Amino acid sequence: MSYNLLKGKKGIIFGALDPNSIAWKTAERVHEEGGEFVLTNAPIAMRMGQINKLAEQTGAKVIPADATSEEDLKNLVEQSMEILGGKIDFVLHSIGMSVNVRKGRPYTDQKYDWTQKGTDVSAMSFHKVMQTLFKADAMNEWGSIVALTYMAAQRVFPDYNDMADNKAYLESIARSFGYFFGRDKKVRVNTISQSPTPTTAGQGVKGFDGFISYAEKMSPLGNATALDCANYTVTLFSDLTKRVTLQNLYNDGGFSNVGVSDAVMEAFITSQEAEIAK
Ligand SMILES: NC(=O)c1ccc[n+]([C@@H]2O[C@H](COP(=O)([O-])OP(=O)(O)OC[C@H]3O[C@@H](n4cnc5c(N)ncnc54)[C@H](O)[C@@H]3O)[C@@H](O)[C@H]2O)c1
Repeated sequence: MSYNLLKGKKGIIFGALDPNSIAWKTAERVHEEGGEFVLTNAPIAMRMGQINKLAEQTGAKVIPADATSEEDLKNLVEQSMEILGGKIDFVLHSIGMSVNVRKGRPYTDQKYDWTQKGTDVSAMSFHKVMQTLFKADAMNEWGSIVALTYMAAQRVFPDYNDMADNKAYLESIARSFGYFFGRDKKVRVNTISQSPTPTTAGQGVKGFDGFISYAEKMSPLGNATALDCANYTVTLFSDLTKRVTLQNLYNDGGFSNVGVSDAVMEAFITSQEAEIAK
């Protein structure tokens, strides 16, 4: 259902790779709500991905940009303002990648070149995106910037590896830059901490299937889907959340505040009983 929440608003959406991507679902929902946007992704992802299909579907232009390159980001922001005919109201940073995770390197045996690359892509890119927007004075007053994160920034999830540190850094950047963006430009900056979601990035995490079903059993409302995340993001881009800023907002069916659930306890006791009966 559409509520026209984003009518007249213009933005940039990073990170739509395929129809499972959270950014893909967000682009579809933003389009339904009347928002106009430019889609962007790393040049290499564009060759592999299906972004042109999404662009056709939503009437968006696509501008390649490696989010670690200041030059690419400057060009992206300039071109976006030209295409959209003025300043920007919303930005979604939906980018994450760890080389250590991809190559199966455990947290206790990092290859630091890879760690640095992951930090640059997953966290520092958010600073670079915001600094580029800030310096170009590219955001309209009461605009909204959102990045996606995961609760491993607060609690230990051993297989989340160095992405946990990247997410902690990302969330801190949201607060620190959000202060200046709020004070000087009246722009809000938040992160959404999303449930495990079956996407390309999500499924790269070792033991993801166990991860997702554990979270499902722990959460009173079940895991938030990519569409749930898209809907939440739409509210944060809308004028209904004008003074929500510097926040890390959980979209996780309640997972983050549950110690243990009946369903998880039941599964644990059943497996313990089976162990004893052996
Ligand atoms: N899937 C989950 O379980 C989950 C849970 C919480 C948070 N998140 C976060 O959601 C965000 C989106 O991930 P997703 O799950 O939709 O997976 P995804 O794989 O569909 O999206 C990740 C995107 O990052 C892009 N990217 C990688 N390197 C880049 C670069 N140098 N420049 C520009 N873009 C680059 C990829 O091309 C891809 O489009 C990420 O920040 C991820 O950490 C995901």
